[in-house]
Amino acid sequence: MTGWGPFDLTGKNAVVTGGAMGIGFGIAKRFVESGANVLIADINEEAANAAVWKLGDGPGKAAAMQVDVSKEGSGRGVVARCVEVFGSIDVMVNNAGIYPQVPMLQTTRELFDKVYAINLKGVAFCARAAAARMLEQGKGGKIINIASIDGLRPSMVGLAAYDSSKGGVVMFTKNFALEMAPHNIQVNAIAPGGISTEGTAKPLEGSGMTEEQMKQIMTEFAKKIPAGRLGVPDDVAKVAVFLASSASDYVTGEIVVVDGGILLT
Ligand code: NAI
Repeated sequence: MTGWGPFDLTGKNAVVTGGAMGIGFGIAKRFVESGANVLIADINEEAANAAVWKLGDGPGKAAAMQVDVSKEGSGRGVVARCVEVFGSIDVMVNNAGIYPQVPMLQTTRELFDKVYAINLKGVAFCARAAAARMLEQGKGGKIINIASIDGLRPSMVGLAAYDSSKGGVVMFTKNFALEMAPHNIQVNAIAPGGISTEGTAKPLEGSGMTEEQMKQIMTEFAKKIPAGRLGVPDDVAKVAVFLASSASDYVTGEIVVVDGGILLT
């Protein structure tokens, strides 16, 4: 007993895509602390292995695999690996995502396709693979998709591909929740905003910004957040524990905004 009550994840086996750093790592850390075993599935193999090492204190176990969620069969691959290493899959967190910032008039079809392949199709097909296995296991499950406040309201120019992919994640979550509800599989999303991560610490891909300009943008952005600070991965991770646990068994198709009040402004 970990003392986590209805939030206890002991005995649960989870996959976190993009779990090597940022929000994904924050989620993996809280999951392991609350008793779950976690497979970190990330395109960056070295960072995924380093993350497993950092998660060594348990009580849950951690393992890593290299995957590109935009590739055909990647969802089936991560699910099979989770089952092989831990015995089942009970929680699937679709967190891997990219946020290049390029005005639409300069956005190529290739870049648009790439954003959709990772952010929307990656989510949909990893969710599908996890749900198929959960149905076979016959004991329900939890699917958590990481959307964005930008899937609900645009925050800046240059994110048309990103924002529409995340809007897609919002509606995918709701429709798949409807399909899975009779099977005791809850499908929910978290819409974070303004979270300090490795990804937001460097200039956004395609933006042409320097590191200093990016820091300036984040500082200016932080001033507009009603909570008075940027978020940290753990702000999102604690909500993910709720959505992965029995505490949320009657919650499905929901989008939980974790943004310090940005959308209220
Ligand atoms: P990050 O860039 O710090 O970390 C992303 C992780 O995903 C990295 O470990 C990276 O290697 C992995 N990844 C990237 N492409 C992948 C692929 N094709 N296959 C597998 N793994 C891949 O990002 P951050 O900031 O932690 O964001 C995580 C998620 O949260 C993303 O979906 C992002 O859109 C979303 N989000 C983040 C916000 C923020 O303020 N940081 C706000 C709203 C949403």
